[in-house]
Amino acid sequence: MTPSRRDLGRALERAREETDALFALVRPDSLYERPIPERHRILFYIGHMEAFDWNLIGRYALDAPAFHAQFDRLFAFGIDPPPGRLPEDQSSDWPSLAEVERYNHRVRDEIDSRLEAVPLQLLHVALEHRLMHAETFAYILHQLAYERKQGRAAPPAASPEPYQPAMIDVRGGEAELGLDPEAGFGWDNEFRQHCVHVPAFSISRYKVTNGDYLAFVHAGAEPPFFWVERSGRWFYRGMFSETPLALDHPVYVTLDEALAFARWRGKSLPTEAQFQRTLTLGSPPVNYDFQYWDPIAVSAGQAPGVPSQLVGNGWEWTSTPFAPFPGFEPFPFYKNYSEPFFDGHHYVLKGASSRTAACFTRPSFRNWFRPSYPYIYATFRLVDA
Ligand SMILES: [Fe+2]
Repeated sequence: MTPSRRDLGRALERAREETDALFALVRPDSLYERPIPERHRILFYIGHMEAFDWNLIGRYALDAPAFHAQFDRLFAFGIDPPPGRLPEDQSSDWPSLAEVERYNHRVRDEIDSRLEAVPLQLLHVALEHRLMHAETFAYILHQLAYERKQGRAAPPAASPEPYQPAMIDVRGGEAELGLDPEAGFGWDNEFRQHCVHVPAFSISRYKVTNGDYLAFVHAGAEPPFFWVERSGRWFYRGMFSETPLALDHPVYVTLDEALAFARWRGKSLPTEAQFQRTLTLGSPPVNYDFQYWDPIAVSAGQAPGVPSQLVGNGWEWTSTPFAPFPGFEPFPFYKNYSEPFFDGHHYVLKGASSRTAACFTRPSFRNWFRPSYPYIYATFRLVDA
């Protein structure tokens, strides 16, 4: 069902509360930190979502006069530099928090007073853009030193479920990729809808676990970025504390690590089309929409005979380079959302993580990152061709 303007306005308000609450987890003396070297300082993100909304809705759609053109430009764009090319700005290059907050309040007032005139598609874009940043800012917050954060993770309810690894057969047939424009909002790279034939294959019931990957590390592989070894014991570096490595939780890895593990096990990673085909088996979503900060057991919420957690508890890497579907056209109001990343250096991820908003669990949504980028909540499973 297509949401009404009022629904979208309310959803935007809730999304603002979500992102405001995230920034409130940063100690005030740490707002100019840069926890991920390849990304902007924290303060940038505080101004970025409002600048994006204002540039898109106020300036592009409604042609409203600029009231702070310098901030409109300063906070307009995030960064994704190639490996080895890091930003060099200083914290003194950035304005004060008070100035940014004044700008943000004004943007919200200006947009809210014009909501009736905003095209629905652009309201969707503003809403989902903000919710994407609610996740990617969580990645940044994750890397901020614990003593610079003010918050605690509610522990997941412990409900052990049997863990019975198996490969599940998926019959050959058509995989549906993309989105029908009549079905609702989607980003430019979700169009057009089309089918791809996928030969029969089998896929692992569970995401690869920390325990699985530990065997690879014992065989000589480097440990993943989210692990740390202390006095011969392994710990997971969680959002708010380190915890002993839970062997039945999914392992967060880069695509390079996932591919190396798959080779070691004589298997491969699913393609995007194989993942889409697997989705048709049904798999209840688990640990998504900001439920927890960190992963839970791979068997949590499982259903009999189908792959567990295809959606939730960590994005899943595919072996498919991020590329346009036939008939792709960039959004005229956001030309650089997808197109610069169709470069062979980014790969598709599907599913969702614990910090992925519910709207992105539509089957057509595509996420993408560089294969060596270690900061994301990315898991994987294996296939036999
Ligand atoms: Fe952005």
